Amino acid sequence: MICKRVEYKDFRNIKDETVSFSPSTTILYGKNAQGKTNMLEGVYIFAQGKSHRAGRDSELVRFGADSARLTMTYESAGRENTLSLVIEGGRHKIPYKNGIKLDRLSEMIGNFRAVLFSPEHLAIVKAGPSERRAFLDVAISQLRPVYMRTLQRYNTILMQRNALLKSMKQNTSASLISSLEAWSEKLSEYAARVAVVRADYAEKLSELTSELYADMTGKKESVFISYHGTSRIGGDYGDEKRIREIYRRQLTENVEREIMLGSTQYGVHKDDVDIMLNDREAKFFASQGQQRSIVLTLKLAEGEYSKRETGEYPVFLLDDILSELDPARRSYVVSGIKDRQVIITSCDMSVKRRIRGGLSYCVRSGTASLMAGAKE
Ligand SMILES: Nc1ncnc2c1ncn2[C@@H]1O[C@H](COP(=O)(O)OP(=O)(O)OP(=O)(O)O)[C@@H](O)[C@H]1O
Ligand SMILES: [Mg+2]
Repeated sequence: MICKRVEYKDFRNIKDETVSFSPSTTILYGKNAQGKTNMLEGVYIFAQGKSHRAGRDSELVRFGADSARLTMTYESAGRENTLSLVIEGGRHKIPYKNGIKLDRLSEMIGNFRAVLFSPEHLAIVKAGPSERRAFLDVAISQLRPVYMRTLQRYNTILMQRNALLKSMKQNTSASLISSLEAWSEKLSEYAARVAVVRADYAEKLSELTSELYADMTGKKESVFISYHGTSRIGGDYGDEKRIREIYRRQLTENVEREIMLGSTQYGVHKDDVDIMLNDREAKFFASQGQQRSIVLTLKLAEGEYSKRETGEYPVFLLDDILSELDPARRSYVVSGIKDRQVIITSCDMSVKRRIRGGLSYCVRSGTASLMAGAKE
């Protein structure tokens, strides 16, 4: 997978700029607040369908402009394609593939695959379960578009069930009770589908992550991850019917409590991923450097798994990550990504010395200019 070029129009602080990327390494240098991360964000949005950091799409539109437009030309399996996104403040994003409007954003996901390492991702280890679920969901969605639709359906059912629970605080008529049963049935069906896929992905990722982590630390440290269902499922996710039955039972056994709280207390929206570092829970015991190393190896493993499934590496996007690693871990990362496309942002010109080949740009106030002597 190669991202060849992105045209940015009124996106964040970028008025009108086109950046061509090297098939090996592209470095985006620049002082703080110039637009380096914005340029990466404009690449990653095609993989994830949304920004990794904006809460609302309107944040992506340049101050004072009505809409933003991003167009990416990329190559996958030897074929060149374009994807575009029109972002109108306050409205839905409109996706296009090769100039043709797509009906839904979810149709765009899976065309272009990328793995992003950004400072925000350090939260995967220490923050709450939602960060870890999001990590799995984003990674899986790029490989299995059907999974994303299943998850969206789950969330819609969840919202409807929650609305019903709230209304039942005042009124528990027989018809509401039977409609709650129907929602519980539907929710457990989708919960089981989601849980089985997440658990399977976590298991595959764990193998790759623990290999990579052992390599990175010269076998001094170990990392394992596993899917942790809050329901009493245990570690066995092989039988979807069984999982569905467990979720269904939990939803029906705890109706009174759920009505009192006005929200659904069981299901995959409560699940977590256990990350074990040297046999202890990383969320309590990992140092800052260990957190960074765990996230990096998780992301490298994500790329490795994507390659196994699709036959090609995703594009690796590194947002200001290298400068904060110690030299040994930094050179491990640099050597681990050398035969694939990488786009790196940095404020530190010395990154260039460690990475050979490729293109370097200087990013200033939302523009990018090729640096002298930096051509391939
Ligand atoms: N919608 C927007 N319109 C105009 N400018 C914006 C918009 N959103 C963000 N910005 C500005 O874009 C600038 C660059 O942001 P960006 O995060 O890309 O910086 P950066 O080059 O990565 O800097 P750092 O090295 O500090 O990470 C910031 O000053 C930010 O305020
Ligand atoms: Mg930045």
